[in-house]
Amino acid sequence: MKPDLSDQYILITGSGRGLGRHAALHLASCGAIIGVADIDAGNAEQVAGEITSNGGKAKAYSGDMSDRKAFMAVAADFAKLGGRIDAIINNAMLLRYSPVQDVDEDTLSAMLDIGIKALFWSAQAMLAHYDKKRGGCIINLASPVATRGFPNTSVYSTVKGAVTMFTKTMAAEFGPQNIRVNAVSPASVPTPGSLGLNSKEEYEKRAGWIPLRRNGTEEDNSNAIAFLLSKEASFVHGEIFNVDGGVSACN
Ligand SMILES: NC(=O)c1ccc[n+]([C@@H]2O[C@H](COP(=O)([O-])OP(=O)(O)OC[C@H]3O[C@@H](n4cnc5c(N)ncnc54)[C@H](O)[C@@H]3O)[C@@H](O)[C@H]2O)c1
Repeated sequence: MKPDLSDQYILITGSGRGLGRHAALHLASCGAIIGVADIDAGNAEQVAGEITSNGGKAKAYSGDMSDRKAFMAVAADFAKLGGRIDAIINNAMLLRYSPVQDVDEDTLSAMLDIGIKALFWSAQAMLAHYDKKRGGCIINLASPVATRGFPNTSVYSTVKGAVTMFTKTMAAEFGPQNIRVNAVSPASVPTPGSLGLNSKEEYEKRAGWIPLRRNGTEEDNSNAIAFLLSKEASFVHGEIFNVDGGVSACN
């Protein structure tokens, strides 16, 4: 059963494609009003258009969400729609793997900026625009690589390690202010971004060793996000919610 998220104003970064796009469509189908923010303007418009043509409500935003001014401007405009922001989902990321000797400065900066710095802007935007009585939610996108070493993922894994720690720190800092902070940690979901890192053959192999013997889906991830946003999860806070078929627990 889908949770009732009607009247929730939810801003999702990187929701022009992949997991963010699916979450945008799914949460809109639960009644939420979605801010679809992506660096790719065309994709953001397309997703917002899909939501409205399905009878939902959404507004598209294009911009580099690692830039503080851009993040705050998007948040301020989105907050005008309903007078508040109820949730921010920090989904945007630049997915790149390489051996550490090949890491170049531009890619490193871009990944750290959107993967880590944007989380700080989201926290500031939440403080600026949430309704203190209703409370707020932040959901970050973590990964099993945050807790285990995998070769060639040094930048990506460092970012996700920071996402995990930021989630716990902000749970401690924001809990008393009625803002819940959690993360979902999906694994092995073929998306436009992850298919640039792993081939289809690699995904087929993974389905053989993931404990539940399949890859993840965008729907698995969106269901977990919807639950974390729901009133049924009102005491779930500081959680890194594995949606990974058992990868983190068993491998
Ligand atoms: N796919 C997986 O298996 C998997 C597993 C664990 C975690 N994740 C995390 O889930 C999130 C989504 O991943 P995905 O697989 O859908 O990737 P994706 O590359 O398909 O989608 C990422 C989106 O973020 C946008 N984006 C990138 N930089 C941006 C910026 N600076 N400002 C605004 N938007 C920007 C992109 O344009 C794209 O639309 C990421 O945080 C990723 O690390 C994915």
